[in-house]
Amino acid sequence: MFQQMTALPPDPLLGIAAAYKADSNPKKVDLGVGVYKTEDGKTPILTSVQKSLQILLDSEDSKSYIQPRGNQAFLDNMEQLVLGSSNPLLASGRVESVQAPGGTGSLKLGFQLIKRSNPNAKIWVSGPTWANHVALIKSSGLDHAEYPYYDKANNQLKADEMLETLAQLGPNDVVLLHGCCHNPTGEDLTPELWNKITDLAVEKGFLPYIDIAYQGFGIDLDTDVAGVRHLLSKVPEALIATSCSKNFGLYRERTGLITTVSQTPELASVALSHVLNIAREIYSMPPSYGGAAVGILLSNPELTTEWKGELAEMCGRMRNLRAMLVDKIHERGVDEDFSFINRQNGMFTFLGITPEQVQAMRDEYAIYMAGSSRINIAGISSSNVDYIADAVAAILKK
Ligand code: LMR
Repeated sequence: MFQQMTALPPDPLLGIAAAYKADSNPKKVDLGVGVYKTEDGKTPILTSVQKSLQILLDSEDSKSYIQPRGNQAFLDNMEQLVLGSSNPLLASGRVESVQAPGGTGSLKLGFQLIKRSNPNAKIWVSGPTWANHVALIKSSGLDHAEYPYYDKANNQLKADEMLETLAQLGPNDVVLLHGCCHNPTGEDLTPELWNKITDLAVEKGFLPYIDIAYQGFGIDLDTDVAGVRHLLSKVPEALIATSCSKNFGLYRERTGLITTVSQTPELASVALSHVLNIAREIYSMPPSYGGAAVGILLSNPELTTEWKGELAEMCGRMRNLRAMLVDKIHERGVDEDFSFINRQNGMFTFLGITPEQVQAMRDEYAIYMAGSSRINIAGISSSNVDYIADAVAAILKK
């Protein structure tokens, strides 16, 4: 059965972690996979999350199945977190959510829902986008294309080209948008662009599909999704895939949700029935642990306050790391201007170096990053920033 298969290359992002692990250079630096790290390179469990997990352990009295759509406290609280607790959509009956295994599992359910509803739909992704987006779209049997997003040569958005492309789209198109902290560029849509994209979605009838994996990692929990909330207040339909991997630090617990916004409560029930059926066909029902913990955390005001503090600390640290990296590179007298890194949001930025230079960073300095030159800002620390800046300067001056 399996003789005719050949081995695939490692995953473009997850493969970096394996290569880094195997490197024996004591100076090695991991700027690869998007995982938050503290100053000493650890990814600890957030204290507020740890307390919630303990409450769960102390109170859980069964390992029987949970309901197919997931933990209700989790779903209700996450909808409020994303949409805003006073959002009229919440009481409209037009919104339904299903807990899913992480952001990836949530995205997959959404793509499969699109495939069922309109098999000929075309999914438009930002150029560039997260590598796994395209894999998920293809494995769902859907067609895809890129809309212009980031001008790598000038480190800025391709705003006009993006709007021109989106203005050509119609009801058979789906536009995948990054809610905040664009992965891989760190360059977010401005409020003005959110407004314009919203107007185009209403006018042309394309479906916005929003991926929210970093809420709270950009500026703060509300500012980060202000554009998303504006869009949702105007469009008749939308899909939202939300991940709790980063902002709750629950990476391995695979915690996320897919939210459908439909035109009427009746259509919302139809969409929900399909999402549940799709999940049943793939993995039956979601894992309980992560969702239950977030449900406990967000239902408890004290734990929520503590979590918001921890989230703000992670966010602030990444901002400081951006500034530190930019200063250190410029101190080394390179010609290139890296100040764009300070303007961007979240975990990632593009260094803008060539694939050959990325390889040289790995071979000569044991500094690991994605082939696109995307770096994970949280992998920088005050103890490795000089080493990274030295390497960048040396590579650029070659
Ligand atoms: C990343 O982009 O590095 C993260 O979202 C982790 C992943 O699964 O790719």
